[in-house]
Amino acid sequence: MIRIPEWNINLRTGNSNIDYLHQVLLVLARKTIQAYDVAGLSSQDFHESLNRLAATADELFSTEEAVLAAGKDPTLPWHRAEHQHFREQITELLVSASIGRTIDREGLCRVLIDWATTHLIETDETFRTPRII
Ligand SMILES: [Fe+2]
Repeated sequence: MIRIPEWNINLRTGNSNIDYLHQVLLVLARKTIQAYDVAGLSSQDFHESLNRLAATADELFSTEEAVLAAGKDPTLPWHRAEHQHFREQITELLVSASIGRTIDREGLCRVLIDWATTHLIETDETFRTPRII
């Protein structure tokens, strides 16, 4: 059972670039887990999905951080720290996949579900809530 949610209108941030990248990353998260389930770590689909996921996550995080920096948003330091934590976890998955080290399904799902739920819904709420300064 994959618990990566579908994108929905309640996740809209008002920034079309961020919204697009959120949608792509949710699709890639589901696709990566499905590729793992269908053919395992040795499948080309899994490696391609994981590589695209890493590149998309990096683009999304950089875009979000640029928006927060431009708005002098006080949440930038800890928001960036959460992104960095995901970057490190995704890099570990990439390294493991590239050298053929076992990636357990629970670990893979934990990283992706954590981003798709806790971060996307809670931390990225900052983009959905206009600030009164
Ligand atoms: Fe974020």
